[in-house]
Amino acid sequence: MDYSDRDGHIWLDGQLVEWKAATFHVLTHGLHYASSVFEGIRVYDGIAFALEQHQRRLLASAAALRIDIPFTVDELCAATAKLVSELGVANGYVRPVSWRGSGSIEVPGFDAGSHTAIAIWDWPSVFGNEARVAGIRLGTSRWRRPDPATAPTHAKAASNYAIGTLARHEVAERGFDDALLLDWQGRLAEATGANLFLVHNGSLHTPIADCFLAGITRATVMELAEKHKIPVVERRIWPEEINDADEVFLTGTAYEVQPVRAIDDKVFSPGPVTRVLQDAYQAIVRRVEG
Ligand SMILES: Cc1ncc(COP(=O)(O)O)c(C=O)c1O
Repeated sequence: MDYSDRDGHIWLDGQLVEWKAATFHVLTHGLHYASSVFEGIRVYDGIAFALEQHQRRLLASAAALRIDIPFTVDELCAATAKLVSELGVANGYVRPVSWRGSGSIEVPGFDAGSHTAIAIWDWPSVFGNEARVAGIRLGTSRWRRPDPATAPTHAKAASNYAIGTLARHEVAERGFDDALLLDWQGRLAEATGANLFLVHNGSLHTPIADCFLAGITRATVMELAEKHKIPVVERRIWPEEINDADEVFLTGTAYEVQPVRAIDDKVFSPGPVTRVLQDAYQAIVRRVEG
């Protein structure tokens, strides 16, 4: 399946265009210099979860890269909701993306201009339904999350994802489902598209998000943990502490609450704390009272 070869429409700069016609020129600043930011949003039963938060983060990421987007959060939310209903997507994924255009092909992007698009497609679970229960295997990558003085680590910027792609290719060769990334100082950071939680003696421990994306799902799960009287500790965590964890899971819009069954050669059983939070997260995204 090629993502360029689908039916339907894509919202591009305020207009609906045919899916296959949503293209740009090869001399585009965003392509050459990774001057691009994006979002990932899930649609549950026809409604995009945390839509406003995601669109606000898109604008914040663009501002971090000094890309001007001539749309407001409300306009982006309205465009998304309209597209979800027009395409009839019940459970799917929304990809808003903004990038510098072809007005300049020099490193300074002053005259490059910008474009914004929103694409939506049906998309079930990332690792499959079996993995939701059994968990996935993480391999520690040699690639690390950089010092925030070196890269726009708080933005959901395309440039940060080059590390994720390299890490995924590296650990896939060793048979792992996803990569665990350390930070620039060798402490635990996150996976390639999700944040990390360790469960120890009934409490959640998660790395301080100061050099990687502080996920919207991470914040939601921390709130859910509080509601369930599960203590949450944000702190610096060294890789050796993996050996003391009773359970490990990842959180992200795409991953949702994803149990981890191994990190390198250390094995875990997805346990009760992960299950409680998995169920609570599904209830909140699907707006089930409880
Ligand atoms: C690198 C990275 N970290 C963490 C996350 C989790 O963020 P969120 O929960 O906002 O989807 C994502 C997914 O967007 C990601 O790509």
